[in-house]
Amino acid sequence: MRDQLVQEFKKVFGDGGDIKVYFAPGRVNLIGEHTDYNGGHVFPCALTIGTYAVARKNDSTKLRFYSMNFSHLGVLEGDVEDLTYNKKNGWTCYPKGIIWTMKKKGFEIPQGMDILYFGNIPNGSGLSSSASIEVLTGFVLKDMWNLPVSNQDLALIGQYSENNYNGVNCGIMDQFAIAMGQKNKAIFLDTATLKYEYADIDLGDCKIVILNTNKKRGLGDSKYNERRAECETALAELQKVVKIDSLGDLDEQQFEIYKGAIKDENRKKRAKHAVYENQRTVKAVEALKQGDLAQFGQLMIASHKSLQYDYEVTGKELDTLVDAALKQEGVIGARMTGAGFGGCAVSIVKGDAIDKFIENVGKEYKEKIGYKADFYVVEIGNGPMILE
Ligand code: GLA
Repeated sequence: MRDQLVQEFKKVFGDGGDIKVYFAPGRVNLIGEHTDYNGGHVFPCALTIGTYAVARKNDSTKLRFYSMNFSHLGVLEGDVEDLTYNKKNGWTCYPKGIIWTMKKKGFEIPQGMDILYFGNIPNGSGLSSSASIEVLTGFVLKDMWNLPVSNQDLALIGQYSENNYNGVNCGIMDQFAIAMGQKNKAIFLDTATLKYEYADIDLGDCKIVILNTNKKRGLGDSKYNERRAECETALAELQKVVKIDSLGDLDEQQFEIYKGAIKDENRKKRAKHAVYENQRTVKAVEALKQGDLAQFGQLMIASHKSLQYDYEVTGKELDTLVDAALKQEGVIGARMTGAGFGGCAVSIVKGDAIDKFIENVGKEYKEKIGYKADFYVVEIGNGPMILE
């Protein structure tokens, strides 16, 4: 892989200079959805699929970007001295936003660079291809210019760029999972404090199977920002009757006591999801620690139901996939993952049942939705790295 990428880089940008190859993963969230901007917990992990970058400094201030995934677009240019946002810049808004953020935070990026990207995360699938490019670009810059930034800083820089450059009000989960990923571990992160702990994911004879609806989505055009605003309003209403900083401060009982303060039924459902999902996440991690995979699976199923009926971010593609998945033999749990509105579901399935699972779920999905779903049996991998 490394040699192929370097060859491709030289074909596009020519020989010479100090060329290095980098990788950052994608992520899947096991449970704790739409909690990260509500001061709740999440439980994501990094994947072994992700984004590669081949990069070198150039002796101008020019930025030259090339993606093997969008090769028809050719080399797209920019300049470190002019990083003004322009929607027309397409996918390069992600790396540009990172350079913009780093400069804004006071880091010096004195020269331009040539950089080639290649990603094997299905684009638009909700496995965080954009956060992967963001963290990867930050990691390249950190290495290239010896910047004093930790991996956790890279996550925060990625989120800052997404929020302030690309205009998506995402939480910290994706960038954090990618920057801090560890092989065979999920990250139990409290998004209110950024305290985190790693939990071993020992699934015994089971595996993580990701189910892709192939319904593309981007956070920008989804109802993501709308949900976030609904939660903020609900929080403000609750704060009139109880002293809390975020919805994550409430448990289920407290929510039931105070929920009358929320004056709109939809908002009440959104807030209920945020509160209950946070508590489910805490319980799910506890169950996993006790080795109770069955209970973990049940909490995944409850999470999907809550996202379907209370948060209303699933849609018929995700619901069809999850319903079909839950009918199969050997399935421990299944739920949508990421923002929703399309994208992927995640399931835990017994290893020897996977072939049949994929066949049956694929068939039912195709019949009901009209196009096919894709399936990936995934491994949990490490955070960003240099490929020597
Ligand atoms: C997207 C966002 C995350 C998080 C999830 C939903 O992936 O980028 O910050 O809010 O949706 O859990």
